[in-house]
Amino acid sequence: MNTQHVLLDVHLTDRDAEAALRADALAGLTATPKHLPPKWFYDARGSELFEQITALPEYYPTRTEAALLARSVDEIAAASGADTLVELGSGSSAKTRLLLDAFARAGTLRRYVPQDVSEAALRGALDVLAAEYPGLLLHGVVGDFTTDLDKLPRGERRMVAFLGGTIGNLLPTERHAFLTQLRSVLSPGEQLLLGTGLVVDESVVVPAYDDAAGVTAEFNRNVLHVLNRELDADFDVDAFAHRALWDADNEWIEMRLVAQRAMDVRVGELDLDVPFAVGEELRTEVSAKFRPLGVRSMLDAAGFDPVQMWTDPDERFALTLAAAR
Ligand code: SAH
Ligand code: AVI
Repeated sequence: MNTQHVLLDVHLTDRDAEAALRADALAGLTATPKHLPPKWFYDARGSELFEQITALPEYYPTRTEAALLARSVDEIAAASGADTLVELGSGSSAKTRLLLDAFARAGTLRRYVPQDVSEAALRGALDVLAAEYPGLLLHGVVGDFTTDLDKLPRGERRMVAFLGGTIGNLLPTERHAFLTQLRSVLSPGEQLLLGTGLVVDESVVVPAYDDAAGVTAEFNRNVLHVLNRELDADFDVDAFAHRALWDADNEWIEMRLVAQRAMDVRVGELDLDVPFAVGEELRTEVSAKFRPLGVRSMLDAAGFDPVQMWTDPDERFALTLAAAR
């Protein structure tokens, strides 16, 4: 691999991540009801499980967004003229290749800046991309998009891609704070390409988060392995069942872990005993689905002007190009 064109900034060291995990675990495991933020799914194993999820027959978002991108990337690249493509929560950067190829055809892009909290996923993606795009400067950033946006490399004309519907994994107030923060680090005219899952029938969305092969269940339980390893906890991982349920009022799907028996879990690093009643639930993720109008008003409220929106024929997913005001 020619590494001359590959840089990696680490804004989130193992020590930072552990301090953040301790704080989140303490707050979430002592709350009623118990909850954990979804970013802790993504150690090396969690990132791998997410990649498996994207290929499941029930999990429509990835392939729907990929098909949408395939149809619209040349329009996006032409409308953008960006010299830098930043991607937040880039994971394996698999779908990003469609954008990189379109920008190569348009001839404007010099640099790709993937940012992810998972160093393992980021390093894996950079290895593959370095071989595939020898002419492109690759500048990976290990960081948290809820706290580290101000550390993204500057550019003359950046487009920030936030794909996969990951914005839906933030709660409404977190979402607004995130978009406002993102707007504040961009110059007027710089762009955001946002992927959002749309509201679909419960009979479609629930199986996408509760697949027959049980991969999503394993992904969900992976957060307990992370707590066991990183915080010296003793969760009996198999004593928690996976549950996915549609919340029609909030228009989001929730993933929970349900204690199958009463137990006390010791979290050594926190010197904390966490009691679980039989049937008690721990919320591990929300994945909000949107309506096109809601996407526009959410962007507008944070200082972005929506420029164009693309949706698939079944209206399951939207890609929105917006410009910072
Ligand atoms: N964009 C890819 C991956 C989506 S999975 C796709 O569309 O398929 C969500 C990704 O976001 C994971 O790689 C995870 O590690 C990353 N992630 C989750 N929370 C994050 C945070 N707070 N900051 C940075 N990355 C985060
Ligand atoms: C990363 N994120 C958009 C995924 C989602 O669909 O909310 C994570 C995921 N959770 C369960 N399956 C996939």
